[in-house]
Amino acid sequence: MSFRIQPAPPARPNRCQLFGPGTRAELFAKMAGSAADVINLDLEDSVAPDDKPAARANVIAATRDVDWSGKVLSVRINGLDTPYWYRDVVDLVEQAGDRLDQIMIPKVGCAADLYAVDALVTAAEAASGRKRPLGFEVIIESAAGIAHVEEIAAGSKRLVAMSLGAADFAASMGMATTGIGGTQENYYMLREGERYWADPWHWAQAAIVAACRTHGVLPVDGPFGDFSDPEGFRAQARRSATLGMVGKWAIHPKQVALANEVFTPSAEAVAEAREILAAMEAAKARGEGATVYKGRLVDIASIKQAEVIVQQAEMIGG
Ligand code: COA
Ligand code: MG
Repeated sequence: MSFRIQPAPPARPNRCQLFGPGTRAELFAKMAGSAADVINLDLEDSVAPDDKPAARANVIAATRDVDWSGKVLSVRINGLDTPYWYRDVVDLVEQAGDRLDQIMIPKVGCAADLYAVDALVTAAEAASGRKRPLGFEVIIESAAGIAHVEEIAAGSKRLVAMSLGAADFAASMGMATTGIGGTQENYYMLREGERYWADPWHWAQAAIVAACRTHGVLPVDGPFGDFSDPEGFRAQARRSATLGMVGKWAIHPKQVALANEVFTPSAEAVAEAREILAAMEAAKARGEGATVYKGRLVDIASIKQAEVIVQQAEMIGG
């Protein structure tokens, strides 16, 4: 470890973030009753320009009127390149209930974007007497966002989570894709005439995980558009979990159980992790730093790997 200790992210489950448009108030109680850890009420791209004021009013009322117990409650505001975002922030800070935990800032491109929102939130909080400081989460979904991902992860003390937004990201990068996440038809390697599909989101995901882990922020995989393809969702989510992400968005209630399944360590994985810890305890008692578990090397690094799984399981269980 460096002399600079890696900070821990917030110790709470973030396996699934369920989205719903701010215009569809009839969905809010269903969202609250879902098994998602985080609820994101949207004022941004699922809301048409003419509907922005109505969506804002719906969402503000819902922070007070809906029973969100057990959920992290977040509202996605509009981007800093729009005329809507400042009104989103001011109205939310002044009028939303203290039950609102955080706001999600989309299309963040540099740390100064967070600085700007932080300045506005801080002033509005001080003026309105809001007692609980609002947290931030951001979406990396542009070329600038990924190019500046590390300074963004360090950009505000309020920041708790960072998601990859595959669709806007692909558009901003000029990628020749239309799907929202998942396997892309033309992204393959060829060997002896056979195609082997690779993962075009891998680099951005790994960059986000590294930035988040450096600064104590939760790394989250964004949407998977085809909600009629559970196996596609699972495959994408399993890759994300393997890379260190803690959860994934759901854009339809069908995806909530899938995300919870993938981002909850399985009983087998937890049992194996505990066995590795026990094998290393026994090795330590013998004065050894490395030993053999099921025919393979385990050493002191294996303890840390196993602890990631056990701690995740205990946090979710508790
Ligand atoms: N949260 C909770 N419940 C939802 C829901 C959501 N996001 N979307 C749909 N439901 C409910 C429906 O009300 C319906 O409930 P019922 O069985 O009690 O009638 C049930 O789930 C099945 O819904 P379905 O008919 O399949 O979906 P739809 O056609 O009403 O809506 C979408 C489909 C994709 C438009 C809708 O799920 C949606 O708006 N998703 C979120 C989009 C979003 O927020 N995007 C921004 C982030 S990328
Ligand atoms: Mg987007």
